Amino acid sequence: MVAHAAISLRVSLTESCQFHCIYCRPAHAKILAREAATPPAEWISRITTVRRHAPIEKVRFTGGEPLLYPFLDEVVEGIRGLGIGDLALTTNAFLLASRAAELAERGLRRVNISLDSRNPKTFEKMTGAHPSKVLTAIDAAIDAGLEVKLNAVILRGVNDGELLDLLDYATDREVPIRFLELMPIGPTAKDFDELYVSGAEMKARLSERITWTELPYSRSETSRNFIGHWSDGREVRCGFILPTSTPFCDGCRRLRLSSDGKLVGCLAQPDRFDLDQIEEALAVKLRPQRFEDQRAMVSIGG
Ligand code: GTP
Ligand code: 5AD
Ligand code: SF4
Repeated sequence: MVAHAAISLRVSLTESCQFHCIYCRPAHAKILAREAATPPAEWISRITTVRRHAPIEKVRFTGGEPLLYPFLDEVVEGIRGLGIGDLALTTNAFLLASRAAELAERGLRRVNISLDSRNPKTFEKMTGAHPSKVLTAIDAAIDAGLEVKLNAVILRGVNDGELLDLLDYATDREVPIRFLELMPIGPTAKDFDELYVSGAEMKARLSERITWTELPYSRSETSRNFIGHWSDGREVRCGFILPTSTPFCDGCRRLRLSSDGKLVGCLAQPDRFDLDQIEEALAVKLRPQRFEDQRAMVSIGG
């Protein structure tokens, strides 16, 4: 059976990641040898197979860390060659600064960069790394003409005191920022009650300095978006991703391709499907969410 509405495909190119984010923390973090990586032709063939069964409106490359996949340029170019124009990347950006221009040249249009903090101590605590390369990469991506968005997962007692600082930074750079609720998945699931901050609380805390104009919500989007107005007249686009308090499964047309080439219908379900089982994969979205069964965030890309 053919799925009619276009899907948004998230492709996890590799499980490898050099960061150790406390809410994800891959157990292994090695850079894939070129010989061990799935060849680009194989990814293009997998995506072509999916497209035979459902139209694809956007492809987002994820990981692990997709910049550790050694043939990203080739895959981006290959997928652009299929006529899919909305090509995006979700990345920790550690390796992005020197790659942004080439990726844009090959057809990448958008990049969502994780920035949980600008403060080196907090950043180190949350990711195990230093933020300087990420901050440089944000500027490089903007300069390369990529559409940049920032993502920050907010954790109580860790970076919840930095909401305004992150918003201020995004305002200065004129890029949108989205604040994410923690999901009860991965290594922080056991400390979820302590760490979780709802989007409503984040927005209320920002409201000490910010007034809001709500933007229209499209059912297929992950975030509720606003223009934030500072009292000095500056403006910023700010979104809240609320998977925990306000699940957005309703209009979800996202399908994931895991790093080992299986279809994953929902972030909150453990099932894996073959590439031609689009309808079966989409059907799992109707089940109640079971985040606790989904253990391989790093292989399905968040
Ligand atoms: P845009 O195309 O820019 O709207 O990107 P996006 O928000 O779809 O992609 P991004 O990779 O930036 O996703 C942000 C975060 O939203 C992810 O890291 C996840 O935490 C969360 N997210 C994305 N898709 C889903 C989903 O299907 N279910 C749930 N529960 N969370 C999701
Ligand atoms: N809760 C919320 N978001 C998460 N991510 C990874 N693990 C979690 C979690 N437990 C998201 C982060 C990161 C993206 C790749 O996945 O936003 O930026
Ligand atoms: Fe790596 Fe992303 Fe997981 Fe952080 S969230 S450890 S950057 S895969």
